[in-house]
Amino acid sequence: MNYQVNLPQNLKTILKIIEKNAMGIVFVVDKDKKLLGSLTDGDIRRAILSGIKIKQQVDLKFKFLNKKPFWLPIGASIQKILSHIDGDGPKNYKCIPLLNKDKQLIDIATYARVKSFPVASPLIGDEELINVISAFKSGYISSVGKFVGEFEKSFEKYIGKGFAVSVSSGTSALQLALSTLDIKKNDEVLVPNFTFAASINSVINVGAKPVLVDVDLKNWTISIEDLKRKITSKTKAIMPVHIYGQPAPMDEIQSIAKKNKLVLIEDCAEAIGARYKKKKIGSLGNCSCFSFFANKSLTTGEGGMVIFKNKNEANKAKILRDHGMSRSIKYWHDYAGFNFRMTNLQAAIGVAQVKKIDLILKKKKNIFNYYDANFKNKNFFILMPKNKWSENSYWIYTLRIQNINRKKRDLIIEKLKNRGIDCRPGFYPLNEMMPYTKYSSGSFKNSQTLSQNMVSLPSSPNLTRQEQDYIIRVFTEETKKLF
Ligand SMILES: Cc1ncc(COP(=O)(O)O)c(C=O)c1O
Repeated sequence: MNYQVNLPQNLKTILKIIEKNAMGIVFVVDKDKKLLGSLTDGDIRRAILSGIKIKQQVDLKFKFLNKKPFWLPIGASIQKILSHIDGDGPKNYKCIPLLNKDKQLIDIATYARVKSFPVASPLIGDEELINVISAFKSGYISSVGKFVGEFEKSFEKYIGKGFAVSVSSGTSALQLALSTLDIKKNDEVLVPNFTFAASINSVINVGAKPVLVDVDLKNWTISIEDLKRKITSKTKAIMPVHIYGQPAPMDEIQSIAKKNKLVLIEDCAEAIGARYKKKKIGSLGNCSCFSFFANKSLTTGEGGMVIFKNKNEANKAKILRDHGMSRSIKYWHDYAGFNFRMTNLQAAIGVAQVKKIDLILKKKKNIFNYYDANFKNKNFFILMPKNKWSENSYWIYTLRIQNINRKKRDLIIEKLKNRGIDCRPGFYPLNEMMPYTKYSSGSFKNSQTLSQNMVSLPSSPNLTRQEQDYIIRVFTEETKKLF
């Protein structure tokens, strides 16, 4: 990244350097790299407004040159740098030059270089580490070992109902659920068009046919009207996704499933801790599938879980996840199964995580409430809908920006990235992507609307108030610039 320039130089070249480094500033140095001044895009704008031509050569006498830019020594502490960078105080710099004792420009400090905020990071600590060491020392580092059963039991207890089968990922949870419930070739499975692609991939990978259903703007989950429209004589299952932890309207979905004798598989990958009519999500379908990927509220690194309503189905799933091998006769296969087993090392993390999930969710709820309180009066944001009958899982804080297209939304995300804030766009509607176009028919207007103006903000449980204030300020600032 170029952030320095020697003078004389023409304004156009200087502006190009500034545009390319996306920091709004360039530092003027002499041939020994000694700092002589700084020029911002604002300085150049003012120069042009005063009549100076863009192609004009400028030198050290250029009156818009700041000859005393703020700088810090190269060894300055992170704390010291942070106190001057991108804060909301009177001394607020986006980019600070770092000089050695000879005043030579050695490096620059920006918020993104010093500190950055991922969209989600796990809350893991000594408890997880102690369990992992114990699993490691036991020698049981594959799927045999005490933590696997312990994790399944404690997860069952947390959900409050059903029979848990641990697996290697949320995606394998979905695939195992479909196979256990006998969904196969020529069967149609109704899947929302606005979801992470693992939902549809799992259906394709068991050989069944996904049928895409639009979503409802009121809760971002599968549309009941479109669901009813898409049921045929071949429909065998519905896979509602509690997207961004928003529970789908399960009463209506359950009654449609019952009426049409359809299997109901809940994709709860993003929804641990969410509530539907005060009950914890995960017990309403024939089974429900969770993901424990590192960005999830409860993590095992990679991992997943299926909770079955029916014990026999859970037992069948345990056989299927282990190559379809009989549980009583070694190397005798009852099914052509998979290897979807969770390892003892992963489960060791999971056991510690279940113990702290309530604390994690409490922290995340506070983060969501603080974002909501700060964004609710800004009329260019549309907050995540709230329904009386449900409570979100507080996974990743996601909102929409009014009257904005995908290109502008992506520009905001890019700007935030340059300032250390990792944001995510909404999922792309599945029907727009090549592998899935053949499963789509009808209108997907709502998925398209949602997808193009959605942004997810950093939501790690250990985010401090001060850090959240920074994110709120920068996000609002960058969004406002486009209005
Ligand atoms: C809705 C949904 N379903 C399924 C999955 C798949 O989970 P995993 O990444 O653990 O395979 C994800 C992952 O984030 C998801 O968001």
